[in-house]
Amino acid sequence: MERTFLMVKPDGVQRGLIGEVITRFERRGFKMVASRFERLPDARVMEHYAEHVQKPFFPGLKAYITSGPCFMMVWEGKDIVKISRDMIGATNPAGAAPGTIRGDFALEIGMNVIHGSDSVETANREIAIHFKPEELVSYTRIDEQYLY
Ligand code: PPS
Repeated sequence: MERTFLMVKPDGVQRGLIGEVITRFERRGFKMVASRFERLPDARVMEHYAEHVQKPFFPGLKAYITSGPCFMMVWEGKDIVKISRDMIGATNPAGAAPGTIRGDFALEIGMNVIHGSDSVETANREIAIHFKPEELVSYTRIDEQYLY
């Protein structure tokens, strides 16, 4: 079963949206297999956003992502990488469709509430950056027989 990395960013945490995000993924039928609430250390920010470190927006992104705690999660389910990206919406909330998380709760790219891995390869990389293998919990959710 596919897994992805999701992170409620500091604006989402401060605006009380952790529960809303979890509820959307739970109701879709996805399963949380790991979570942690923490303020990201600088070294892990650099590793997570390694491909963007040289971009002009990176200093602002780093200041934003370390401005408060984040809620880090690993979720599991069929086609979760693509489906979660669809549920999250466009990176710039100004263009995010209503009904998506960013389309319902955000206005600007600098404060876009949530991060989700953009490919299976990226998901595996990001899960390994933020979680140890033993932190990922394998279990069967009782409703799975009505999902698959
Ligand atoms: S790029 O340059 O097209 O590869 O970048 P993009 O995929 O659009 O975005 C990569 C992550 O950087 C965040 N981002 C920004 N943050 C703050 N300010 C500005 N201007 C900005 N532009 C992009 C964007 O939200 C992406 O973060 P994640 O956490 O992956 O959603």
